[in-house]
Amino acid sequence: MGGSSETKILQELILYAASAAFSCLVLFAGLRHLDPNREASKKALEHKKEISKRLGRPLVQTNPYEDVIACDVINPDHIDVEFGSIGGLETIKQALYELVILPLKRPELFAYGKLLGPQKGVLLYGPPGTGKTMLAKAIAKESGAVFINVRVSNLMSKWFGDAQKLVSAVFSLAYKLQPAIIFIDEVESFLGQRRSTDHEAMANMKTEFMALWDGFSTDPHARVMVLAATNRPSELDEAILRRLPQAFEIGIPDRRERAEILKVTLKGERVEPDIDFDHIARLCEGYTGSDIFELCKKAAYFPIREILDAERKGKPCLDPRPLSQLDLEKVLATSKKTQVAAGEYSLSSQSSAWRGSREPDEVQAAISGISKLLVSQIINLQSESQDSWQRDPEEDSR
Ligand SMILES: Nc1ncnc2c1ncn2[C@@H]1O[C@H](COP(=O)(O)OP(=O)(O)OP(=O)(O)O)[C@@H](O)[C@H]1O
Ligand SMILES: [Mg+2]
Repeated sequence: MGGSSETKILQELILYAASAAFSCLVLFAGLRHLDPNREASKKALEHKKEISKRLGRPLVQTNPYEDVIACDVINPDHIDVEFGSIGGLETIKQALYELVILPLKRPELFAYGKLLGPQKGVLLYGPPGTGKTMLAKAIAKESGAVFINVRVSNLMSKWFGDAQKLVSAVFSLAYKLQPAIIFIDEVESFLGQRRSTDHEAMANMKTEFMALWDGFSTDPHARVMVLAATNRPSELDEAILRRLPQAFEIGIPDRRERAEILKVTLKGERVEPDIDFDHIARLCEGYTGSDIFELCKKAAYFPIREILDAERKGKPCLDPRPLSQLDLEKVLATSKKTQVAAGEYSLSSQSSAWRGSREPDEVQAAISGISKLLVSQIINLQSESQDSWQRDPEEDSR
């Protein structure tokens, strides 16, 4: 009797334990499923495994914020831009090699004295389309450093309270994975001048970023640097400019540089061997690297168009002919640089907008008042002269 009640209690206990374990399992699975960061964490983990494989180090211990930032870590092996694929900018490439790449690759050379301490901040600035982002990618490729491409959208997409934690995760992850480059493209959108209208979260984020940056600048063992690029340096905060002591202007290329850009852009393409690059470079005065790239893309359509024309005429040919100098000249003769076209368009639309919006209502009202007055005066004058003309015969007869 006693034995059967004991087994019953035991059975019930086992049942309770099993149901509790099952409930826990369901709860755990449910919570995992409901976790909004599940996909991001999974992606981050995969990314982290890949990074550790490339670095030849075991998986570093990271917190969930660092996992989010790990998604922005770029594997230099996946970058297809190197210094050789950038035309011109020779002195800047050389300076960047000495200031950025060498300290990350050969830290032992910079270990003597304070003067040779590695750079903590470098700014690339200049007009759009001159190759700033390209240079940053090439630095990442050539230095082999971990390249964290900071995207403001990624920092801000999270709940506002977390933005600050994500900012500190950028630096802590960089420290864990060093040597590392923290790259901020279009830096003015993130670290632009602080305004009273700024959102509090944004202002806090900027302050946090600068504080962490200072921490790294004073740590001689940190092989972490901030590389920033902008085409609006005047919009940067004074405090940021001070933290970026090395600034390189990436300007509009000169004729020799344009010829170099043409050569690297057309390298590996099917082109006639007799293209006079200097002649084409002379024709595209004021063009940026990006304009030259677009010029070559447009020119590459001519051989394709010829094939289509031939097919239409019933003479199919197999391969498109190589791109010729004439193709480039034809594009130069017929098309404008996007910047010039946009400039002309905005000027014409600005002047019409000026006409439309700048005239205050009062002025417009005064002008219409004056014109009404003038019209009524003219009508009066006309009717008076008509009256006098009509009266004249009577007066004559009297
Ligand atoms: N010096 C260069 N050599 C070869 N190609 C270039 C060069 N400069 C620009 N290009 C071409 O122009 C494209 C745009 O360049 P990039 O994105 O680096 O410009 P950017 O200076 O970062 O412009 P933005 O200020 O608008 O971000 C590149 O993908 C490349 O095809
Ligand atoms: Mg850019």
